[in-house]
Amino acid sequence: MNKFFSTALNKLKKLFSGRVIAVIDIGTDKVKTVVAKPSGDGFFEILGYGVAKSKGLRRGTVVDMEDLSKSVAISVSEAEKFSDTQIDSVVINISGDHLSSVNTKATLELASFPKEVTDEDRKKLESIIEQKVVGVERAIVHRVAYNYVLDGESIVNNPVGMLASTMSANIHLLVGRLGAIDALIRSVEAAGIKVKDVVFDAWASSMSALSYTERRMGAILVDIGDSKTDVAVIKEGNLIYSCVIPIGGVNFTNDIASVLNLDFKTAEHLKKNLPNLMESSKQDSIEVKTFDSDEVVRVSLTYLRSIVEARVSELIDMMLSSTSIYKFIPFVNTVVITGGSAKVWGLKHMLGKSLNLHVRYGVPSVDSELPEELKNEDASTVVGLVCYSLISGKKNRSLENRMTLASIFDRIRELFDRYLG
Ligand SMILES: Nc1ncnc2c1ncn2[C@@H]1O[C@H](COP(=O)(O)OP(=O)(O)OP(=O)(O)O)[C@@H](O)[C@H]1O
Ligand SMILES: [Mg+2]
Repeated sequence: MNKFFSTALNKLKKLFSGRVIAVIDIGTDKVKTVVAKPSGDGFFEILGYGVAKSKGLRRGTVVDMEDLSKSVAISVSEAEKFSDTQIDSVVINISGDHLSSVNTKATLELASFPKEVTDEDRKKLESIIEQKVVGVERAIVHRVAYNYVLDGESIVNNPVGMLASTMSANIHLLVGRLGAIDALIRSVEAAGIKVKDVVFDAWASSMSALSYTERRMGAILVDIGDSKTDVAVIKEGNLIYSCVIPIGGVNFTNDIASVLNLDFKTAEHLKKNLPNLMESSKQDSIEVKTFDSDEVVRVSLTYLRSIVEARVSELIDMMLSSTSIYKFIPFVNTVVITGGSAKVWGLKHMLGKSLNLHVRYGVPSVDSELPEELKNEDASTVVGLVCYSLISGKKNRSLENRMTLASIFDRIRELFDRYLG
């Protein structure tokens, strides 16, 4: 078909397709695109999806924009064909060890006598906190004011309209390196798609993998992907803590491959099958046919198990020692593990023991019908991005804790002005 007609046809398709949501989960292993159509009252219909092998990311951070852009283009084109739509703009996820989480408090003197708190007062207080925490080379991905304290006493969720002479706020900020955020957005935009919003991986996953009660009562969401683990603590529907740990599925596979001197594919196969092997095998020593040379080697299941458990233990230690997750344990009831590597041997059991909390596997669990391919742990982020888009698309956003894209672009502009202006 000639280019003029195909462009005209795509425009017509868009005109008649109504509002369509497109999201991309940019993972280190896979780039997953989903196209969905809202069908009212928070429900949606999945129109199509596309998956491409991911290139150009290391532990969630862009290391090659061109490679990543190509992966995005393949994934998007597959989703477009499947859904028979044209994707112009998307909501994407973000992760990487450039992200850091800050929980802070600031106070604003309002007046000598109690006065009515305005939205401007609220914004002023938030900007005081931001200036204190965010340097010029960093940008805010999520900002969550999870409670306000009026006159040092009454704790409220929304202070606007109430009387007070001083107002403090407890704020959670997820801050990222401006250069890394910019590289991610531009890699997607180089594939011809506009980025509307950026959402932290585990925050997105929490929207599909946690139940309403878990989100209200408090839960820790742990998303173990290919190259890193994203953690979010959710309470009363808010993101109150987040962190990224640089260990993921690929580390388990690499450990098995190097310790047992096996090729990557054989090690990957053993990693995924370890729970079945532990359950079904009568003997400790099993025969394994290698993928690269068709050679048959003997592997001890006890030894294999100890290799995986050593890495699980390191992951849990890092989660507990390098983060302040302990502080939040009294405020949560459940830990939900999701992401492609959630089922790695020993993780559920060892995490439950270390945190002394109930741990369960989390898969996308939404009111809408999902295709089989989007019902697994590795689809939590992409389905969560659809849920996020539905909520944030509403006029009165019930979740305030969205990324302030404007603040990122303001900062990019500020940076340009500073160096070039
Ligand atoms: N049954 C299984 N048991 C253990 N690991 C598994 C299983 N199935 C898949 N994996 C691992 O899951 C990982 C991919 O998960 P996922 O799709 O969530 O990653 P990603 O989102 O692309 O990466 P990331 O979030 O780290 O950027 C791979 O390392 C893969 O080996
Ligand atoms: Mg992921």
